[in-house]
Amino acid sequence: MEDKINVLISEEDLKNRIAELGEQISRDYAGKEIHIISVLRGGVFITTGLSNCITVPVTIDFMSVSSYGNGTNTSGNVLIKKDLEDDIEGKDVLIVEDIIDSGVTLSKLIPMLKQRKPASLKICTLLDKPDRREADVKVDYIGFKVPDKFVVGYGLDYQQKYRNLTYIGEIIV
Ligand code: IMP
Ligand code: MG
Repeated sequence: MEDKINVLISEEDLKNRIAELGEQISRDYAGKEIHIISVLRGGVFITTGLSNCITVPVTIDFMSVSSYGNGTNTSGNVLIKKDLEDDIEGKDVLIVEDIIDSGVTLSKLIPMLKQRKPASLKICTLLDKPDRREADVKVDYIGFKVPDKFVVGYGLDYQQKYRNLTYIGEIIV
C-alpha cells in the first residue's frame, strides 16, 4: 500500500537553498580544498546536490555509522559500520548529513574524527530538528530547520523507503 505524503519543502525550495549553501561554503573555503565526509545513507543526496554547487576543489568520502548503547540516549556510543577510505589528517573536512535530530550520532562521531587530526572540521546538514536536541553539536551550515515531525525524502527514509523523493515530505497517517 502506498502512503500519502504531504510536501513540506518543495523540490524547487531545496534546489535554491542548496545552491545558496554551496555559494556560502565556496566563499568560506576560498583558496582551499574541501574534503567532504558524506554520512550514509541519507547524506548521499545532499552531498551530490551540494557538491555540484561548490566551486572550490572537492573530494568526497563516505562513512556509515549507527548509534548503539542506550538507543538515542546521549550516553550511547557510535559504531562505525563503514569507515572512510582516505586519511583526513591535514584536510579541511566538511561532514555532510541529511538531518540532525538528537545530535547524539554526531556528538560521538566528531571527537573520533578529530583524533585523526584534520586541519579543520565543519558540519553541514540539510535539515535540523532543534526541538529534539539532546547532545550539544555546533552545526556550521543548515539548509532548513524543521519542526518535530518525522520527515522523508531527499535521502531521508521511512523503513528504507522514500529516500528517492525529490522533495521533503511528511507521511500522513
Ligand atoms: P541523531 O541526530 O543522532 O538523532 O541521528 C539522526 C539520524 O536519525 C539521522 O541521520 C536519520 O537517519 C534519523 N532521523 C532522524 N529524524 C528523522 C526523520 O524525521 N526522518 C527520517 N530519519 C530521521
Ligand atoms: Mg543520517
